[in-house]
Amino acid sequence: MISFTNVSKSYEDELILKDFTFNIDKGEVAYMTGPSGAGKTTLLKLIYCAERPDRGQIVVAGWDINKLKQRTIPFLRRNVGIVFQDFRLLLNKTVFDNIALALRVHYQHPNAIREDVNAVLKEVKLSHKAKTFPQQLSGGEQQRVVIARAMVSKPTVLLADEPTGNLDVDTSQTIMNLFREINARGTTVLIATHNHDLFHGTGRRVFFLRNKNIEKEIIG
Ligand SMILES: Nc1ncnc2c1ncn2[C@@H]1O[C@H](COP(=O)(O)OP(=O)(O)OP(=O)(O)O)[C@@H](O)[C@H]1O
Ligand SMILES: [Mg+2]
Repeated sequence: MISFTNVSKSYEDELILKDFTFNIDKGEVAYMTGPSGAGKTTLLKLIYCAERPDRGQIVVAGWDINKLKQRTIPFLRRNVGIVFQDFRLLLNKTVFDNIALALRVHYQHPNAIREDVNAVLKEVKLSHKAKTFPQQLSGGEQQRVVIARAMVSKPTVLLADEPTGNLDVDTSQTIMNLFREINARGTTVLIATHNHDLFHGTGRRVFFLRNKNIEKEIIG
């Protein structure tokens, strides 16, 4: 579902990832961890085509990233949901509209959009907050809206960057349960985190990034 073959990536003169090779299978939940600056966010951005590799092959949901033209990137992004810290909610739009926006770019009928948005709001248990604005929500509620926005287009791949960053233990558990449910429906999930509790005991693969590559791979 996601494959990297000998991928290198640098910013200006600094090499971040060197000859990076890994595979995430369809339907897998996998984790990435490692020191700050190891390249976790960069790796997720390469999958999402927000950054381009210097060299090497990246294939995501059947799309060869190197062959993707600028105008076909939206088609890839239809299949890749993202829960990123720097991809926050629009503060001047309601919860409903923040989620609906993700669908409006796909030119769906307003009735279909309303149905889909209401369905994901129910799943993240925020139906009662549809008309409120992001700043009226708690951090955990905002994060659930971000996840709902990523889920609503039914992506084949879901990427999450430190999804429980500023959340308490209970709220983090709720968020992780949501990812589990999304995965149970067939979505492949890749999560970058410093929090080892998130993968401990999951039985899922965990990649430790260090020195521009995978230092080790363990089962969580
Ligand atoms: N747009 C950019 N331009 C230049 N350098 C960048 C850019 N984005 C990231 N970097 C550098 O690339 C390195 C890897 O950054 P990245 O954000 O991928 O690390 P990370 O593993 O996600 O770290 P953290 O755990 O702190 O989130 C860092 O040294 C960072 O300073
Ligand atoms: Mg990061």
